[in-house]
Amino acid sequence: MKIGVLGAGQLGRMLALAGYPLANRFTFLDTTGHPSAGIGNVMIDTDQRHLESFLANVDLVTYEFEHLPVPLVQAIEAERPVYPSSEAIRICQNRAEEKALFDRLAIPTPAYRLVDSAEGLEAAARELGTPVVAKSVTEGYDGKGQAVLRDPADAADAWRSINHPRLIVESFVDFVREVSIIAVRGREGDVAFYPMAENIHVDGILRYSLAPMPDLDEAVQQRADGYIRALLDELDYVGVLTLELFQCADGSLLANEMAPRVHNSGHWTMDGAVTSQFENHLRAIQGLPLGETRARAPTCMVNVIGREPDPAAVLAIANAHLHRYDKSERAGRKLAHINLVADSHAELLDKVRACAALVPDAPAPEFSFEGTSGES
Ligand SMILES: Nc1ncnc2c1ncn2[C@@H]1O[C@H](COP(=O)(O)OP(=O)(O)OP(=O)(O)O)[C@@H](O)[C@H]1O
Ligand SMILES: [Mg+2]
Repeated sequence: MKIGVLGAGQLGRMLALAGYPLANRFTFLDTTGHPSAGIGNVMIDTDQRHLESFLANVDLVTYEFEHLPVPLVQAIEAERPVYPSSEAIRICQNRAEEKALFDRLAIPTPAYRLVDSAEGLEAAARELGTPVVAKSVTEGYDGKGQAVLRDPADAADAWRSINHPRLIVESFVDFVREVSIIAVRGREGDVAFYPMAENIHVDGILRYSLAPMPDLDEAVQQRADGYIRALLDELDYVGVLTLELFQCADGSLLANEMAPRVHNSGHWTMDGAVTSQFENHLRAIQGLPLGETRARAPTCMVNVIGREPDPAAVLAIANAHLHRYDKSERAGRKLAHINLVADSHAELLDKVRACAALVPDAPAPEFSFEGTSGES
């Protein structure tokens, strides 16, 4: 099976690495002019002139990046199967569409308003009560295109700094922790759910993901499974879908956003689950049976951002797995991740601290369950 991937970053690279054992071949279509996949056949197409040769090289198409022109994906869809569909891209690339879908499926979200002026932003901040987070409705990632307003009077500055014609304004959630649920749906509608991960973000960028959580109530996992299943079924979705959530003190979950693809908070599955998110995405889109999603052991993913650690020092940690993306160092850039696997959560936390000491600029790893009796 010859697989076409829209986007050519590290997610595409890891899809290809998972697909070679299945005898898949990969052609990447990069629309940015800066591909980093470093693997497979990479076509740079910033002006949409190479679509025909891309299509001639592929049997089916998937993507690792959702900020793509919808008409381009629709044009591809007319020629080849695209999984997940262009409709998933259309919704997931726009926070207003995404929230409307959550509302329609009764998936709770932070209170929000849509605004298209600085005055509207100020009024929304007043109505919702500060603090609020304002986000551009399209194009955001890694916390870009966002501002926190502590006071409605911050609206003019926030509007200017985001510099986008339409914003979504959300109540700032006082969460206990950030979590995500990743699930995969096959072509026949079969679904498998990964154990939820706890995610630590600093300045809007993911730094740590840990799964399974030692103190997660089974009822909370089931609630998340229900939410993501509703999304998968509604979109008649094929492939891996990610839903980022805030977990509140009473155990309730508020949906933050979703991503129609493999996700950074699922990288732990490469070494910590029976089947990785990348392999399961490829199985799903090819109509193959889905693999088991169970965690093999407590696992933590540590992101490497901006500067790389000494690989030898990282690999000296027992059961540490280094995944480098073969990119050059640049502030804020995701360069690699490290998966740490342990027999217990206590041992895992020791490894995470040891690893954080090696990773340049790694923030202190502080998980919600530390010091609670939930540790096993
Ligand atoms: N309503 C909110 N309340 C509290 N914190 C928030 C809220 N919205 C966003 N954040 C914080 O900012 C981070 C980034 O926000 P969000 O996930 O919306 O942005 P993004 O730029 O699309 O990120 P990603 O890299 O996941 O695509 C969240 O993970 C969370 O830490
Ligand atoms: Mg996010």
